[in-house]
Amino acid sequence: MTQEQTRAQEAPPQDLPSGERSHGRVRQSGIYLAGLAGGRPSVPVEWSALEAAAGAALPAASFGYLAGGAGQGHTMTANAAALERWRIVPRMMRGSATRDLRTELLGHTYPSPLLLAPLGALECAHPQADLAVARAAAAAGVPYVFSSQASVDMETCAEAMGDAPRMFQLYWSSDDDLTRSFVQRAEGVGARAIVLTLDTTLLGWRPRDLDQGYLPFMRGQGMAQYLSDPVFRSHLNEAGSPEPGSSAAPPTPTPALLDAMQALGAKGKHHGLSLAQMLAAVARFSATFARPDLNWDDLSRLREWTRLPILLKGILHPDDAREAVQRGADALIVSNHGGRQIDGSLGALDALPGVIEAAGGLPVLFDSGIRGGADIFKALALGARAVLLGRPYAYGLTLAGEAGVREVIANVLAELDLTLALAGVPRVQDLHPGVLARA
Ligand code: FNR
Repeated sequence: MTQEQTRAQEAPPQDLPSGERSHGRVRQSGIYLAGLAGGRPSVPVEWSALEAAAGAALPAASFGYLAGGAGQGHTMTANAAALERWRIVPRMMRGSATRDLRTELLGHTYPSPLLLAPLGALECAHPQADLAVARAAAAAGVPYVFSSQASVDMETCAEAMGDAPRMFQLYWSSDDDLTRSFVQRAEGVGARAIVLTLDTTLLGWRPRDLDQGYLPFMRGQGMAQYLSDPVFRSHLNEAGSPEPGSSAAPPTPTPALLDAMQALGAKGKHHGLSLAQMLAAVARFSATFARPDLNWDDLSRLREWTRLPILLKGILHPDDAREAVQRGADALIVSNHGGRQIDGSLGALDALPGVIEAAGGLPVLFDSGIRGGADIFKALALGARAVLLGRPYAYGLTLAGEAGVREVIANVLAELDLTLALAGVPRVQDLHPGVLARA
């Protein structure tokens, strides 16, 4: 343990700001008081109930896309197990009446160590999709990372957020001009950083989606950044390049296919595109999404394209962390994409300490498996600067749109606040590995 950590453990802080962030009790008593009158939270607080309620509310294909993982789901299990293996060791009598969740990241101070992760194709969850999430994030002051696969374009979301903080997550297309256009647009909408996702140069093998024959992008869903992009649109009058495997005969025009075409046509209308252009858009996206040859030199190029801080999402190995530092990354995100890319990968939290050690002081963020405030406490105690919330807010969105996302954010932060109080560490910045024990 460092001297600083020892000091933090021995001496409860006396200098908490008057604007304390102790919302946990307020949230808790609000729910119990409403309960007296028979009220129950419309968005379940308990994780498995939240997931089950979202599952019951959605068609199987949509829920499968949100909840599913790669292969047999072993990586998702590993994410939960990695968190479970650490236990919180509470300290008593430390005067934790007020808490301070404020977190500094890349020159900005945020009210809490929480960000909303980029989630593609959120129209699977709710028709307002990213727009509802953007509004909820802005209301909570929680930074929202816009996805490359968003269902609402970044300009519309940014406008709805006012000055509230946002970042842009980049999937590096095999069309460099498009990638560069995304980066320029992100700068234009006031993104505070580019989050380059490294782990999805190809789509993982996802049995739940395969068994439903369902990939949102084939239906034009989750493509708003592309359909609104001048570079992407400039290609839509060309004949689409054939996808691998697409030499098969065209599908029979079943009622399902006609429905899909109708939906594609309606989406095209929204973007001022004909059905033929939408078909070209889907073909072009399918042909250019994959970038299996992405390599470290690309990061150096991205560095030249933008002055925005670059966060690398998907780092799990210390050597990759070292390379990222050398190549000028500004922060890293330890993540295995919520277990959606490789089955049998290590639990993300198991990778966190090694990456932090190799990152040489660069901020390291964390996602994959965060379900509540105690999980956040553990990740921060192991050295993460902040965490990204994924599926839980997608389920809140499913159940109650913008209000549902707000509920989930409030619940997660309330639990973090109460956990800090009960564990005797009132400031998130004072968390350190000594507050945890290996199970
Ligand atoms: C994702 N994730 C993701 N990541 C990314 O960089 N760009 C994206 O477009 C998406 N899309 C996406 C869709 C859905 C439905 C899910 C569940 C996840 C990964 C996401 O940012 C984050 O890493 C995981 O969600 C974290 O795992 P948990 O906590 O949700 O299990």
